[in-house]
Amino acid sequence: MVLKRSFLNKEKTMLSVTCKAPVNIAIIKYWGKRHEELILPINDSISMTLGTNELCAKTTITASEKFQHNRMWLNDEELLFEEDSRLMRCLKGVQRLAHINGSQEASLCWKVHIASRNNFPTAAGLASSAAGYACLVYSLARLYGIPLTEELTTIARQGSGSACRSLFGGFVQWHRGVLDDGSDSVAEPVASAQHWPNMHVLILVVNDERKKTSSTTGMQRSVTTSQLIQHRVDKLVPERIANLKKAIKARDFQSFAEITMKDSNQFHAIALDTYPPCVYMNDVSHAIVNFVHTYNKTTGTVHAAYTFDAGPNACIYVLKENVAKLLAAIQKVFPTDSIDTVEYLRGLAVSPESNIEKNSDGATDNSIHTTAEHRKVNGMLNVQPKNLLKYIIHTKVGDGPCQLSDDNSLLKNGLPLSH
Ligand code: DP6
Repeated sequence: MVLKRSFLNKEKTMLSVTCKAPVNIAIIKYWGKRHEELILPINDSISMTLGTNELCAKTTITASEKFQHNRMWLNDEELLFEEDSRLMRCLKGVQRLAHINGSQEASLCWKVHIASRNNFPTAAGLASSAAGYACLVYSLARLYGIPLTEELTTIARQGSGSACRSLFGGFVQWHRGVLDDGSDSVAEPVASAQHWPNMHVLILVVNDERKKTSSTTGMQRSVTTSQLIQHRVDKLVPERIANLKKAIKARDFQSFAEITMKDSNQFHAIALDTYPPCVYMNDVSHAIVNFVHTYNKTTGTVHAAYTFDAGPNACIYVLKENVAKLLAAIQKVFPTDSIDTVEYLRGLAVSPESNIEKNSDGATDNSIHTTAEHRKVNGMLNVQPKNLLKYIIHTKVGDGPCQLSDDNSLLKNGLPLSH
C-alpha cells in the first residue's frame, strides 16, 4: 500500500492531515466490559460499516513545534483535553506505536490541534463516537506515517469500544480477547463492502428529545445487575457469531435478518433486566418492530431486518432491490407532514426501477399501490399518527476510513476555519 504522507509546511514546523471515517452499526451487540479503562468487552461483536457519503466523521490534525498545548474542537466547540481522558489515551497510544515502529520524527513530541465534525446531525443519535474516535486514531496514524494494523484497532478501542470496528469497511468482528493487557482484543474484517454491495440500510430517526443513559453507564449497570447477561455471553453470542459469519459469507439475507433482529431484541431484554432498567426503545421503536414483522409476513419472506442501539432510532437492513417497496410501505404507515422531501428523505436516491412490477399479463406496472401484493400490505399495516419519524437516511454498506486532500482541512494555521 502506498501511504500518502502528511502535509508538511515549507519551514517544516507544521504537519497536517485530514481524514474521514465511517459509522458502524452492530448486528451482534457489544454490551458490557471486563476492563473499564482498557475498554475490553465481555463478548465478541459484529457490525456493518455504513457509507461515508451519507454518514461520517471528518477530522483534521495539525502538529506544530509552535503549539503550546494540545487542543480539540468538536463540531466547532472546544473541548477540554484532559490528561487522563480517552482522547489523551488515543493520542499517546498512536505516538507510542509510531515510536515502536521506529519513527524518530521530532513531530512526535509536538503538540496537536484537532478539529472534528460529523456530516450528520448529532441529534440522530447514531454512533457518532465510533466514527469520531476511529477518525481520530486513523488521522494520527496517517500523521505519523504508520499503517492500519490490528494493533491500531486496540487504540481506537480505548477511545470508544465500538470505534475499533469503524477502522474497516464491510462487515467487521471485534474479538473479545482473553489477555489482561487487551492486545488480543482487536477488530478484524469478516467481508468487504464489495462482497455484499446490495446490502442497504434505512435509518428511521425517531422524534425524541429525551436524554438516555449513555452506553458506557448502561453497560456498567447491566454487568453488575443483569442476571441474564452471563448466559448471553457464555452461550448465545458465540453461536450467533458463528452463524452470522456463515450468513454473511453466503450472502444469506434470511439468516442474516433473523440473527440481526433476535440480537437487537436480546440486547434490549438485557437492558430491561438491568436494575434500575435502561429503557432505550420507545413506543415508536416498538411500532417499527411490529411494522417490520407484519411487512415481512405480507411479502411471504424476510425483506427487512431492524436493529436498535442505545436509543429509539431504527436501522433497517434491506437489499437494494427491495428498498423502494419497503420505503413506500414505511411512508404509508408512518406518514409525515414534511413537504420538504430532500430534508425528510436523506442520502442515496431510491432507484425507481425497483418499483416496477410485472402484472399478471406480463406488462410492467409502475404504481406500487395497485399490485395485489401492495393491496395486501395496505390491508395488514396499521397507519400510525403523523410525524412520528423526524427523517429517514438511506445508505448502504461502505468502506473504511481514508485520507482526504488538504483542501478539505478543517484547520487553518492550527485554528478552526470558522474562527
Ligand atoms: C449499543 O462503544 O458507545 O451501540 O465503549 O463505553 O464507549 P463505550 O461504549 P460504545 O457502546 C456501543 C453500544 C452499542 C452496541 C454496539 O455498538 O456494539
